[in-house]
Amino acid sequence: MSIQESYERIYGASPVAIQQVPGRVNLIGEHTDYNGGLVLPTAINKSVSVAIGEAADDYYYFTSAIFPDPVRRDLSKIRTGHWSDYPLAAFAWLKAQGGWQKGAEVYIDSDLPHGSGLSSSAALIVAILKAVTELTGPYMTDTEVAKAAQRVENEYLAVPCGIMDQMAVAVARPGQALLLNTETLAFELIELPHAHSFVVAHSGVYRRLDEGRYALRRRECDAAAAALGVKLLCHLTEESAKGLIPKLEQPMRQRARHVWTEHCRVQQAASALRAHELEELGQLMTESHHSMRDDFEISLPVIDEMVDCSRRFGALGARLTGGGFGGCFVSLVETAKVDDWQQRMLQAFPEITFV
Ligand code: GLA
Repeated sequence: MSIQESYERIYGASPVAIQQVPGRVNLIGEHTDYNGGLVLPTAINKSVSVAIGEAADDYYYFTSAIFPDPVRRDLSKIRTGHWSDYPLAAFAWLKAQGGWQKGAEVYIDSDLPHGSGLSSSAALIVAILKAVTELTGPYMTDTEVAKAAQRVENEYLAVPCGIMDQMAVAVARPGQALLLNTETLAFELIELPHAHSFVVAHSGVYRRLDEGRYALRRRECDAAAAALGVKLLCHLTEESAKGLIPKLEQPMRQRARHVWTEHCRVQQAASALRAHELEELGQLMTESHHSMRDDFEISLPVIDEMVDCSRRFGALGARLTGGGFGGCFVSLVETAKVDDWQQRMLQAFPEITFV
């Protein structure tokens, strides 16, 4: 059934706007986005779709393929811990901007596993903002939509995320990597290779960004930047990074070393991708994982094992991806060998699901 038909079946009327937005996976550049650094995510072939219509009253009604009974919400309280907080917060932002003023009936369809670190929340918010602003105005570029979606998460939902996920899902399409400068938001789209694939696998361990450990890493990075006399860690020059980071106290020294070296690795990875130097790219991905494991301390022993096995079974490189403490890892595998590699990974770790 199409999303239009699902919407009509539930609400008995036609939607006025429909929008589909992909999820993302980050190839390299972790925890650099709130430090003014580079990131290199790509859009994936799984997405979130929304269908929206006007409600007869001032309430917001949300349903989805998994939750077919409408949840009724109003704007008096947004943060309740319910999944509908996310779409509601997007409408709160639209209303505050003088956009959509009435209540709304919303149907959400998604094949993006929620809470898997593939940016289902960023995709959902971007989908609603795009659907509504394309209908009612004002015209917004993809970058403006991404910035608005980040504000929805930061200000209305108190999720302290950076801008990577929103930019990735608003701008990139599957088959393209987005080399993004998170400070200026200047970006370049780089075609992904065909003979090699970035295979995304969920570790089976779930985590949330609002549970405190992500915010703690942000505070540690801010403390390191303050001690080094810069606003953001990626404002350091190569010389000052080399000379000053080793003098920091722990854990700031390790955190700053991860962020700075990761920022440099993204630049090298983008060059390797452009030049089709995939061995080099794989190597950088693995170094990135080690930096997250040892310096930023956001990996888990079971994910370290999965990443090691992935390489033993033939991947050119592998790394944890996303905020950390669970979620997905991404491996660079020769396309012709993906089936065999997946079989071996599943035998070793039956809890893995491929995305
Ligand atoms: C989450 C956040 C992003 C980014 C990554 C880590 O996905 O939403 O802004 O900080 O973690 O790279």
